Amino acid sequence: MSSNEPADNPILKKFDVQGKNIVITGGCRGLGFTFAHTLAQCGANIAAIDLNEQPSADFASLPFGGNYKYYRVNVTDYEALKKTIDKIYEEFGSIDGCIPAAGIIRDRPFLEHTEKDWRDTIDVNLTGVFFTLQHCAAKMVEQKTGGSIVCISSTAGHKSLAPQTIAAYTASKFAVRGLAKQVAHEMAKHNIRVNSISPGTMLTDMLKGIMEQDPSRKQLFVDSCAMKRLADPGELAGIMLYLMSEASSYTTGQDFLVDGGLV
Ligand SMILES: NC(=O)c1ccc[n+]([C@@H]2O[C@H](COP(=O)([O-])OP(=O)(O)OC[C@H]3O[C@@H](n4cnc5c(N)ncnc54)[C@H](O)[C@@H]3O)[C@@H](O)[C@H]2O)c1
Repeated sequence: MSSNEPADNPILKKFDVQGKNIVITGGCRGLGFTFAHTLAQCGANIAAIDLNEQPSADFASLPFGGNYKYYRVNVTDYEALKKTIDKIYEEFGSIDGCIPAAGIIRDRPFLEHTEKDWRDTIDVNLTGVFFTLQHCAAKMVEQKTGGSIVCISSTAGHKSLAPQTIAAYTASKFAVRGLAKQVAHEMAKHNIRVNSISPGTMLTDMLKGIMEQDPSRKQLFVDSCAMKRLADPGELAGIMLYLMSEASSYTTGQDFLVDGGLV
């Protein structure tokens, strides 16, 4: 009879991410930080990328199982990002996972969206994701051990959301899903899996900002989902662990909605 201890359980072993080196953009706060926390607690080594001078104070108090390192770079800067990914590869020895979670949102009626709103949103949410994927995938090909990439789309990448006025954001999130699907096809021969997740309304600073802008939004978000509540970012931990580990070895080119029944 097999043991029920997690370390001896062949099914739980498939979810093991110990020793994997994972790049996370937008790793300073919100969902990126939550992914860093979850994966590090499971023994992965995290290279977190963000804009801030220093990582948030929260990092110091985290019970990390693996190593953690912070890199300051703007994901829209192709050359600077490439140098950072080169450095991470050199310092960590491999890149086994990549989560391009850096993102911004501009919540303004369509006719009031400025040129800057559009360009900034597409630049960070789509171009920055493209650059991150390309630089990380190149390293995964070079090291010949495959890898897993998980892009962050949104329920806004599936449908228009009545409470919000986020045309550029919605366009960027539809595009991210498409990007992940195409890259999945091209990278499969290198054993690099590329998927995306589409979270619903997760209680992060980004979402708090939107609700502060218009407090009536909260009720609209709650009412629009079958489970009638906002989500804690930690509720994405399970899907991320699945996608980053060998448990998902035959899963690529897919998008996973985690939305409390919104769609
Ligand atoms: N919060 C939600 O409800 C929700 C739902 C669906 C999808 N998402 C997506 O999840 C991702 C994270 O969202 P969040 O709610 O955690 O947002 P957040 O604003 O709390 O965190 C985003 C992080 O990205 C960083 N960032 C922004 N621009 C950057 C740049 N140019 N270069 C490097 N880092 C940059 C920010 O500094 C910040 O730390 C985004 O892609 C967002 O679109 C969020």
